[in-house]
Amino acid sequence: MNRFEQRQQELLAAPKTWLVTGCAGFIGSNLLETLLKLNQKVVGLDNFATGHRHNLQQVQQLVTPEQWQAFRFIEGDIRELSDCQTAVAGVDYVLHQAALGSVPRSINDPIATNNTNISGFLNMLQAAKEAGVQGFVYAASSSTYGDHPALPKVEANIGNPLSPYAVTKYVNELYADVFSRCYGFHSTGLRYFNVFGPRQDPNGAYAAVIPKWTAAMLAGDDVVINGDGETSRDFCFVANAVQANILAATTALGKSEVFNVAVGDRTTLNDLFHAIQQRLSANGAHYQKEPLYRDFRAGDVRHSQADVSKAERLLGYVPSHTLSAGLAVAMPWYIRHNS
Ligand SMILES: NC(=O)c1ccc[n+]([C@@H]2O[C@H](COP(=O)([O-])OP(=O)(O)OC[C@H]3O[C@@H](n4cnc5c(N)ncnc54)[C@H](O)[C@@H]3O)[C@@H](O)[C@H]2O)c1
Repeated sequence: MNRFEQRQQELLAAPKTWLVTGCAGFIGSNLLETLLKLNQKVVGLDNFATGHRHNLQQVQQLVTPEQWQAFRFIEGDIRELSDCQTAVAGVDYVLHQAALGSVPRSINDPIATNNTNISGFLNMLQAAKEAGVQGFVYAASSSTYGDHPALPKVEANIGNPLSPYAVTKYVNELYADVFSRCYGFHSTGLRYFNVFGPRQDPNGAYAAVIPKWTAAMLAGDDVVINGDGETSRDFCFVANAVQANILAATTALGKSEVFNVAVGDRTTLNDLFHAIQQRLSANGAHYQKEPLYRDFRAGDVRHSQADVSKAERLLGYVPSHTLSAGLAVAMPWYIRHNS
């Protein structure tokens, strides 16, 4: 039995109370689903800035009525300290996912991104410290590596941020570290690398590449690649991120730490295009067009690949899904929900 299987057995035997902020979003709703299936009590906080009620409804359909009753939803805003304090009361573990994602969004509106991702983060951290929770895990980001050229990315070596979004995620890490030093309140940051999977929003100007291209292919629309297509990413199926959150929350590290959460692999956008095309084909949805190419996008890093050995060593993290295994799970979901 690996560490994650062991931890799940322990949680089933002695259920805990979790707060998932951003629970109506993509990663948050996947955390909610897994925790409820493990018979945990879950408090959810979201203001539907980018999340959706239909994500919560989908989770409801995937769990038993008894499991759904263990979920309490609070419609609230992390920019309000009192909402954070209400949400965190009586909670054992916090999985803080609420934020405004997307590099381009932050370039268009740095103030909105700052307000939620920095002021909102600080509110959550303060509320969790005051409440004395056992574990505080937060969504950090691979964007923190910025312009550092080394591959694969190792946690200790970061460069200059390339976008307002990257600044906000780095400031989260700085606050987490300072709360450890000043108050002895330890927390764990998970630097996600391009997470994908069911319930990731395919719509809107700031959609992530996999749901956006999948939706375009299903609709027979053009797929547009920013740059020459040789930009590469370490695409991480959401089950890997869920695993990392649960391991991180339930592992006492004695200080604040950050971990890469990814597979440790690298796929170019050109290869991704073909992988999605083939996976859709295998599901009976054929896309014949070639991709269109346009300029590189401001703020994007050229290559990204994680070294996940720190998470393996200290958390017992073992990614369960490669890109192709993740696409095999995600594509049928996209076909069901996009047509
Ligand atoms: N998806 C990725 O590849 C990726 C990569 C790196 C980091 N992250 C981080 O992971 C977290 C989750 O991302 P996601 O992809 O699930 O995005 P998402 O947009 O689907 O989810 C974010 C959720 O936070 C909620 N939210 C936003 N502002 C809020 C506020 N002020 N108060 C309360 N709730 C608020 C949104 O309504 C949404 O439900 C974010 O912190 C994001 O920055 C994601």
